[in-house]
Amino acid sequence: MSDLYHLRRPVRQILTEWLDIHPPTPKTFEGVPRNNLDYVFNANPETAFLSKGADQVEPAFVPKFKPGTGIPLLEFDPEKLEVGRRLSDSRSENNFVYEVKWNGEPYVLKVNHQTIDDQENKRDRHLVEMNAYHRLLQSELCKEGVVPRPHGYFHIWGRQHPGWARTEKRPYETSGWLEGFTNPAEYPRAILFERIPNVTWLSRDQFTRENIFDLFDTLARLHAVGVIQGDMDARNVLWDGTRFVLVDFDKAIVYPERERVSKTQCSRDLIKTWENFMFDSW
Ligand SMILES: Nc1ncnc2c1ncn2[C@@H]1O[C@H](COP(=O)(O)OP(=O)(O)O)[C@@H](O)[C@H]1O
Ligand SMILES: [Mg+2]
Repeated sequence: MSDLYHLRRPVRQILTEWLDIHPPTPKTFEGVPRNNLDYVFNANPETAFLSKGADQVEPAFVPKFKPGTGIPLLEFDPEKLEVGRRLSDSRSENNFVYEVKWNGEPYVLKVNHQTIDDQENKRDRHLVEMNAYHRLLQSELCKEGVVPRPHGYFHIWGRQHPGWARTEKRPYETSGWLEGFTNPAEYPRAILFERIPNVTWLSRDQFTRENIFDLFDTLARLHAVGVIQGDMDARNVLWDGTRFVLVDFDKAIVYPERERVSKTQCSRDLIKTWENFMFDSW
């Protein structure tokens, strides 16, 4: 991967050249990239797409944002919460994401779950995700619909909390929505998001040229506010019929204000997007 990227020209320009040669008709991009030319972001001077021209692309310079109000802490109350279907991969033990109603209104609840790996790497995925959404809120990308708006966050009662005994609810029991939290010392922490209606995943076969531009433009808007998504998996890109919405920021990197974003980090997002959307059969 080391020779991939250092973008020397704007993404749109690189994509345009590539797409002129490989027009996106269904199933054009079969399987993994076949050769270096299929790596549109390859910086190898032997390959066509990045060989010409001087370095014209400056990495994004993160602006200074207004302080903003932050994401409010909500007081957890099981009586106000109605948990519906699970949205996250049922094999995943990392996070538990559900369609919920809170006070009768539809939301998505993401309960962040620390793995052993996280503990070893001293990584707190809830704080990483909170931090990223704090920036995304400040930057107005939530308002503009690029990412969902976080409505608030919860510290959910742990399994020993006496409050449970006063309710009928037993979420930690088998088949309960918190059954994955087996460690009594871990208090589940969660973020309540605006639920984006009618979203699907746009499959590789359905991508038009405009979709490809849109998706990369959406990603560039994140990078411009100093956020690297860090996990550009196909399932983290939602399509509502008119626009892409990016979710899942528990592996994000947030650059400080008034600093430049790392081109190498941006390129990781670009390359992963390229591989996952153009080539991966999922
Ligand atoms: N705000 C939202 N509105 C609608 N669907 C969502 C929303 N947030 C997440 N989802 C759905 O839930 C799935 C899992 O959420 P995600 O944040 O990616 O969790 P995980 O870390 O488990 O992958 C997504 O792939 C998406 O389908
Ligand atoms: Mg995800």
